[in-house]
Amino acid sequence: MRIVIISRNRSLYSTSRLTLAARARGHEVLVIDPLELHLVVKSGMPSLFLAGSQLPRVDIVVPRIGTSISNYGLTVVRQFDLMGVPVLNSAVAIARSRDKLRALQLLTAHKINVPTTVCARSPAAVRKALQIVGGCPAIVKLQQGAQGIGTMIAETPLAVASLLDTLWAMGQDIILQEYIRESKGRDVRAIVVGGKVIAAMRRTAKAGEFRSNLHRGGVAVGVELKPAYRAAAIAAARVMGLEVAGVDMVETRQGPKILEINSSPGLEGIERASGIDVAGAIVEFGEHYATRTRKRGRRATASRLAAAVEDERRVTRRRGAG
Ligand SMILES: Nc1ncnc2c1ncn2[C@@H]1O[C@H](COP(=O)(O)OP(=O)(O)O)[C@@H](O)[C@H]1O
Ligand SMILES: [Mg+2]
Repeated sequence: MRIVIISRNRSLYSTSRLTLAARARGHEVLVIDPLELHLVVKSGMPSLFLAGSQLPRVDIVVPRIGTSISNYGLTVVRQFDLMGVPVLNSAVAIARSRDKLRALQLLTAHKINVPTTVCARSPAAVRKALQIVGGCPAIVKLQQGAQGIGTMIAETPLAVASLLDTLWAMGQDIILQEYIRESKGRDVRAIVVGGKVIAAMRRTAKAGEFRSNLHRGGVAVGVELKPAYRAAAIAAARVMGLEVAGVDMVETRQGPKILEINSSPGLEGIERASGIDVAGAIVEFGEHYATRTRKRGRRATASRLAAAVEDERRVTRRRGAG
């Protein structure tokens, strides 16, 4: 098969691991910087060009899109989608997971547990919002943050109010979230590929830090997930429509609560912690996915996308019902 990996940098750990894993399985691999592609939007004939020439036939695309080029990267993925090329993950699914609030809305619509979260846009709402999330300390998050950047903790109501004021003035979309004290700086990351948890790790924040991200100095160990955690991770990935996902969860007395779902989970930390060949598992799943998608055809892809949009409009509780 010919596999395209969309990535800005071929020497990144995850990109090079996927490239090696695909070559080891006998595939031809093209690593393409999305910014080098240009796309043609033309009725009935969407196409993509690389260095002035039309891109040859591609069997499957694996996007590894960083937040810095989120929009153009998504545009490129959407173009592959339109061209009927199987993509791991689709543009709709990536866009959903990128926006933390949109992801949480979808999860709760499917009765998947998340920390209580408030989104507001006016200073007058802050007092009530803080009360709803259980007071201080409270978590303030950029809706589009990643790698721990954009996730903050506020110890006092005054800190919450001034943080929100500042971020609003900067035009940022933010959420206020219940601080899960029991997590004590730990969380669980599950890698879901094709509806199965293939690896998991528990991450612990460094001393004096509440964020367990490895980019923020957290340390990880491989874990075997309990069934409830495994089920939550699989359900979360399914609801988002992600074939490949890194699901972040906190462990609470009521069981798993989902923090966010990553559409391009880093492979370095999880492969080191678990000793599992995650890149190989993604490529292997990609082979099945490409064959399956080709058999189903473009109409099935279109109806899947329509269903995804409809799903996001689902009514969780009708007024007056029950
Ligand atoms: N509500 C919360 N309660 C306790 N810890 C949290 C909460 N939200 C996030 N964290 C910590 O901060 C880290 C980063 O948050 P997350 O929502 O995953 O954003 P990012 O995209 O930056 O990884 C999490 O891995 C977790 O350790
Ligand atoms: Mg995270």
